[in-house]
Amino acid sequence: MKIAKIIASIFSILLLVVALLLVYVKTAMPNVGTAPSLKLEYTPERIARGDYLANHVAVCMDCHSKRDWSKFSGPMVAGTTGQGGERFDQTVGVPGVYYSKNITPFGIARYTDGELFRVITTGVSKEGEAYFPLMPFSYYGRMDPEDIYCIISYLRSLKSIDKTVTHSVSDFPMNFLINTIPQKATPQKKPDIGNQLAYGEYMTNASGCRECHTKVERGRILPEFAFSGGRDFILLNGATVRSFNITPDNETGIGQWTEEQFVQRFKAYADSSARNKPVDPNDYNTVMPWTMYAGMKREDLTAIYAYLKTVKSIKNKVEKFSPAVR
Ligand code: HEC
Ligand code: HEC
Repeated sequence: MKIAKIIASIFSILLLVVALLLVYVKTAMPNVGTAPSLKLEYTPERIARGDYLANHVAVCMDCHSKRDWSKFSGPMVAGTTGQGGERFDQTVGVPGVYYSKNITPFGIARYTDGELFRVITTGVSKEGEAYFPLMPFSYYGRMDPEDIYCIISYLRSLKSIDKTVTHSVSDFPMNFLINTIPQKATPQKKPDIGNQLAYGEYMTNASGCRECHTKVERGRILPEFAFSGGRDFILLNGATVRSFNITPDNETGIGQWTEEQFVQRFKAYADSSARNKPVDPNDYNTVMPWTMYAGMKREDLTAIYAYLKTVKSIKNKVEKFSPAVR
């Protein structure tokens, strides 16, 4: 009897602690500080650099525009740049239903430049809501603030598209955990291009290669397997495509690839026929945004190649594609 009472009180204390923790997580988090006060000049130079970064490096428009999956690598549908509304749900392995936002002036008019800086680099919205890290904001948080200013200037210059996007909803327990994810940004200066390895590391981070090219467990990548591929992506037709091992392993990675082969693999998608190659819905397709990266400058691709040659080599043979099981 006495024991039952003790257990009951321990249990209620535990419940109280859990409840207090949940309240704390919901009300006091995310905590990344206030947005910086910024008033940017949207110069033509910044807009041009922002256009390059958003479309060919950080590939913001990969998620924030409509994609045409009847073609190889799902190129962007013209006239939809930045409109958002792309759906990512449990069928592609995320713990909720998330919609990319409208980031044309219609969608971001409510944001100050400082608040845009904060949401892009930490995932905390104007309203203080934590966004799901499907958007790789922890990578953007390590970029040079000047590069983020360029991206903001470019977003402000986009053609406004009047389209309201459905609000995202996380499943339990992600609806609580999500508030613990955002971290303060740790910006760095963009290294000089002459310092090829540091510059290559910077560009590799900015283009999010690591996020797709690393295995995940419960939605988060496993850093010890960085760049070794094997992350599953489910295509609309139910087939699975897996990211390739891009560590320098000689047999299963890119150890034997020359710089030229690496660059050509990207540049192969630069002309418009390669960008518009129709694909039978049941055939091989990929989520790797080749058509967007194809616009990356040669010196940026060669720097990424040089950097990848120095990451930890991991043996991991990847079967890139499995058709849908019917
Ligand atoms: C892999 C997909 C993906 C990429 C790449 C991506 N985003 Fe996002 N973005 C999202 C999703 C999804 C949301 C909404 C998240 C949520 O609702 O939890 C979002 C939200 C936003 C918001 C918030 C807008 C609002 O109304 O609150 C901004 C601004 C934004 N993204 C800008 C960018 C920029 C700039 C880049 C490139 C530097 C980028 N995104 C890259 C998927 C992506
Ligand atoms: C949205 C997820 C995603 C992103 C971001 C991404 N990749 Fe990939 N990548 C894949 C997938 C999936 C494959 C396997 C299918 C294919 O070859 O397209 C792949 C394949 C590759 C291949 C192998 C091509 C071959 O011929 O076998 C290389 C090299 C590569 N990626 C490099 C990169 C680099 C470098 C970056 C960053 C600039 C990057 N990827 C960013 C998903 C991604």
